Amino acid sequence: MGGRPAPWRPVGAGHAAVPGGARLAGRAVNHLDPLGNLRRTHYCGNVRIEHVGHELVLCGWVNRRRDHGGVIFVDLRDRTGLAQVVFKPDHAPAAHQAAESVRSEYVLAVRGHLERRTDDTVNTAMPTGEVELVVSEVRILNTATAAPFPVEDEQVVDEAVRLRHRIHDLRRPVMQRRLELRHRLLQAIRARCTELGLYEIETPMLGRATPEGARDFLVPSRIHGGEFYALPQSPQLMKQLLMVAGFDRYFQIARCFRDEDQRADRQLEFTQIDLELSFVGVEEVLQLIEVITVHAFRDTIGVELERPFRRYSYPDVMSRYGTDRPDTRIQLEIVDVSDLVAGSGFKVFSGALEAGGVVRALPISQAGSLSRSDLDRLVAQAQEWGAKGLAWVRVAPDGAWQSPIAKFLSDEERAQISERAGLEPGHLLLFAADREALVCEILGRLRVQLGERLERRDGRPWDPIFVLDFPLFKQNEQGELSYMHMPFVAPQEEDIELLKTDPLKVRATHYDLVIDGIEMGSGSLRNHRADVQLQILETLGYSEKEAREHFGFLLDALEMGAPPHGGFAFGFDRLCLLLAGGESLRDVIAFPKTQRAQDLYLQCPSPVSAQQLEELALRVRRGRGSEEK
Ligand code: AMO
Ligand code: AMP
Repeated sequence: MGGRPAPWRPVGAGHAAVPGGARLAGRAVNHLDPLGNLRRTHYCGNVRIEHVGHELVLCGWVNRRRDHGGVIFVDLRDRTGLAQVVFKPDHAPAAHQAAESVRSEYVLAVRGHLERRTDDTVNTAMPTGEVELVVSEVRILNTATAAPFPVEDEQVVDEAVRLRHRIHDLRRPVMQRRLELRHRLLQAIRARCTELGLYEIETPMLGRATPEGARDFLVPSRIHGGEFYALPQSPQLMKQLLMVAGFDRYFQIARCFRDEDQRADRQLEFTQIDLELSFVGVEEVLQLIEVITVHAFRDTIGVELERPFRRYSYPDVMSRYGTDRPDTRIQLEIVDVSDLVAGSGFKVFSGALEAGGVVRALPISQAGSLSRSDLDRLVAQAQEWGAKGLAWVRVAPDGAWQSPIAKFLSDEERAQISERAGLEPGHLLLFAADREALVCEILGRLRVQLGERLERRDGRPWDPIFVLDFPLFKQNEQGELSYMHMPFVAPQEEDIELLKTDPLKVRATHYDLVIDGIEMGSGSLRNHRADVQLQILETLGYSEKEAREHFGFLLDALEMGAPPHGGFAFGFDRLCLLLAGGESLRDVIAFPKTQRAQDLYLQCPSPVSAQQLEELALRVRRGRGSEEK
């Protein structure tokens, strides 16, 4: 653990008169000594058999107090763990009497001798379970209100209760461990970035609203009434400006703000490890991301990741896994059968293809454990996700197809599909026929769901991959073009020509780092040429005038001699969650927001005074909760 105890120092019995030595920033603070001249010598979780016979001072919270008819036992807790301290009436009557008034979560300093427990009282489940501190002196440093739930890992407490009582929740060992790991991860990455020659430079929190995908959080200006700053969705443009300014290599532990719907892996306010480099291509950035990731794993959990990380293209992951962030540990892969059923008599398939869609299938071997009613549930599930249906085939022991659609397919079609999907007796094959995006979503989600249920993950705990060759633009159902990630991503050099003629074919320099089905970070090379940037903005529907209005400061900078540059941002909270464990990002953030975008401990957002609104020249039209009424 991170805490390093002060070197052990014996405390004399008559120490009260000898305060000497406690200095803070060169100033004697004896009269303020909060422990009443007891000085902590050890952290609770660190006391061991080798300290037996020594006099120690421990400080912490009362985890539990047990009165065993005379002798009082207290489990004292600090961030390193628990130590058992014992109050014996015959040994130290005053301390024992004081201990009678002690309750859970009281704050104590105790002085005493460490003793070995008798063999029958050794607790092998605790690292400090071989020893106990026999108390000679106690200071009750503070009392405490009753805890809403016991501060123990084993407590299964509703999350809303945990967040409402966050202090007690954070006192639980598991939360202490997670935030300690978060600290070490941050330090490991910071050290590595510094070693790699990146400067840590801070950029403003109060910035300008720019279209980066999510909704902005706005901050009203008092001095310029009616005008607003925007909190950064990321430091994207600022780091690009730093490259133009010649800083060459930058990183920042950057707080980002996005007003979007909350999910388990999304917070309104989150942290990126943001980086940017000049005079680099995709290869150099990917190498750097690998180095940082490998060290992050090594330095925090001692895991050695294999390099190089495997690379996949976007079209490849979409067709094989149905998502751009596949969990590649799941040993199920989607196959495309469009070409095999193009002229099929089965109208569900041929019709989908005629409408410009695709037909794909997910083969699952040894699927005997899925019952007929399981299949009905899968079909209903797919329909809930937007599918028109979910055709299925089971392969019987004799190789025959048991399927509601078998009769619609020719012998040849069945044979070809069998071969493509590698079908054998016991296989289940699930078909989706629709628009490509919907087919990917349906089969991609079924792949993960069934992969988990049937335990088709290979044994590897971590599988970092890069996804490359994303398209620069995407098109919605109305045929409108928008950017896939953000408008500043550079196209791949050889596709620049296509910008004018066939923008949807233009491949971006964008790359994602995906670990175990989680998008752990993303980045790209940027447009360092103003003409290419302008052309992209024009393709997105901005006139040159509008582009200059919105992005003048960027276009101007690019015209000031911008070096080629590119970068990346790790989703730091997601990386913590992966390494520290937990259910959601809320488990690795000290004071997170709920799904409903509230901090339940601080109880915000909250109304502000009329005077504050007046100063900001704001009038509130609808109050709290008005939308629900
Ligand atoms: P992007 O928007 O992909 O890229 O963000 C980078 C990474 O940040 C994490 N992330 C989040 N984590 C928690 N809560 C959220 N709401 C949230 N949104 C994103 C993800 C994501 O991969 N400026 C670019 C980076 C670049 O191109 O250099 C950017 O912000 O892990
Ligand atoms: P229907 O002709 O709608 O009765 O469908 C026949 C079979 O095809 C049923 O098993 C449906 O679940 C399945 N099906 C229908 N539409 C689709 C689709 N778009 N993709 C895959 N299977 C489908």
